[in-house]
Amino acid sequence: MEELLSHRSRLYKGSLEPLQEYYVPSRLLHREAEIARVLVVLRSALTGEVPSHLLVYGKIGTGKTAVITQVQKEISRRVVPENPVTFLSVNCANVDTNYALLQTLGNQLVETLPGQEPIPTGWSQDRVYRSLCTLADERGGILLFVLDEIDKLVHNAGGDVLYSLAQMNRDLKKARSAIVGISNDLKFTEGLDARVRSRLSQESIIFPPYNQGQLRDILRERAREVFQEEALDPDVLDRCAFYASQESGDARRALALLRLAAQITDRAGGRQIRAEHVVLAKNTLELDIIVECVKTLSAHCKLLLWVTISGYERRRSGVTMGEAYKSYESVCHQLGIAPLVARTLAEYVSELETLGLVHAEIYSGGRRGRTRLITSAVPSHETLRALEEDPLLKPLSQQRTSGQTSLFRFDGQDPPAPRGFISPRPPPAGETA
Ligand SMILES: Nc1ncnc2c1ncn2[C@@H]1O[C@H](COP(=O)(O)OP(=O)(O)OP(=O)(O)O)[C@@H](O)[C@H]1O
Ligand SMILES: [Mg+2]
Repeated sequence: MEELLSHRSRLYKGSLEPLQEYYVPSRLLHREAEIARVLVVLRSALTGEVPSHLLVYGKIGTGKTAVITQVQKEISRRVVPENPVTFLSVNCANVDTNYALLQTLGNQLVETLPGQEPIPTGWSQDRVYRSLCTLADERGGILLFVLDEIDKLVHNAGGDVLYSLAQMNRDLKKARSAIVGISNDLKFTEGLDARVRSRLSQESIIFPPYNQGQLRDILRERAREVFQEEALDPDVLDRCAFYASQESGDARRALALLRLAAQITDRAGGRQIRAEHVVLAKNTLELDIIVECVKTLSAHCKLLLWVTISGYERRRSGVTMGEAYKSYESVCHQLGIAPLVARTLAEYVSELETLGLVHAEIYSGGRRGRTRLITSAVPSHETLRALEEDPLLKPLSQQRTSGQTSLFRFDGQDPPAPRGFISPRPPPAGETA
């Protein structure tokens, strides 16, 4: 126990904080141009002029939130008392309704105004909006509503409130406001009323994904602060950057890989993080994503995935749609639930394919005619375990571990691949470097 508790890592020289996701470094590498563009749009606030509404787009982990946070700091530092500028920031992933967004903005304003009471829940949405306007006028100056993950608001709540917020200046007497929206989804405005869409898109900036070299620079900067001189094999940062750039140029992913590779090395008592630790970290992260994804599936989709993977474990060339359906029916029967019709199940196969959990290739030829041949795209053992965590599927785990396989009665030998394949088999997941 003493030994475990007094463990001192040989890798780190100081705090691990710079590797954490929430840490925002003072310098954002390779985002100088984007920072400048955002500043050009918003700087008029410092002289009391209301800026245009701004939409910032980019894939995940491309530094959108970090850049806007930094710009917010830079502008806030330069505010003069004659021209107050107030940033009100909300992550829309945390507000389920238009009402909640208005109330959250209002309550942030309340905190800046002495003697004001929070907006109670129970008022009508219109009243909350009017109260927000009154509070804004009391505060005065320029208000910037930073709506991070604004696409989530539109998807979850329809975004009606954006209509009011985008033209709030009509209802304000002293203050002026503008929206800074941040989104992963370039198309989120498509569902909005044309007038709101054109107002919101007065200015828009798209952040490109980071490339491998840029990600390596970002990692190097952090690594310098965290690790001992000899703790990193020269290959490690490049590996993390390579994997993250292959996916979506996501800096968060690159940092997570480095952090996890360091943890894996440290737990094994190692003195140096090497490429193999990065590979282990990559596999672990991918598995985490699969497990999370599996948990969100509907019960019948889980059953279908379970029979597909179990079938795939028995026959690596995959199972046909007919075989999958028969096994699924059998499993439903065994669990005492009514099976869905084959057509619905075929739709579920497409859903599992879209999620990247299975491959479903069209196979034509032999006596099966034209069918889809389903193979697993995920690590079988771990995915089956994740599926069996669902109480409905729990009985299947005993059956699997006891080796009972009567569920799978394949009606033929392995299909003679690959002559009949129409679509090419995707490359196997896993190590590519
Ligand atoms: N240019 C950069 N320099 C240093 N660190 C960066 C840079 N860009 C992003 N990061 C770091 O990467 C992580 C992800 O960045 P951020 O949260 O800003 O991405 P995002 O584009 O907002 O992603 P999402 O769409 O998922 O919200 C953060 O920890 C951030 O500090
Ligand atoms: Mg973000």
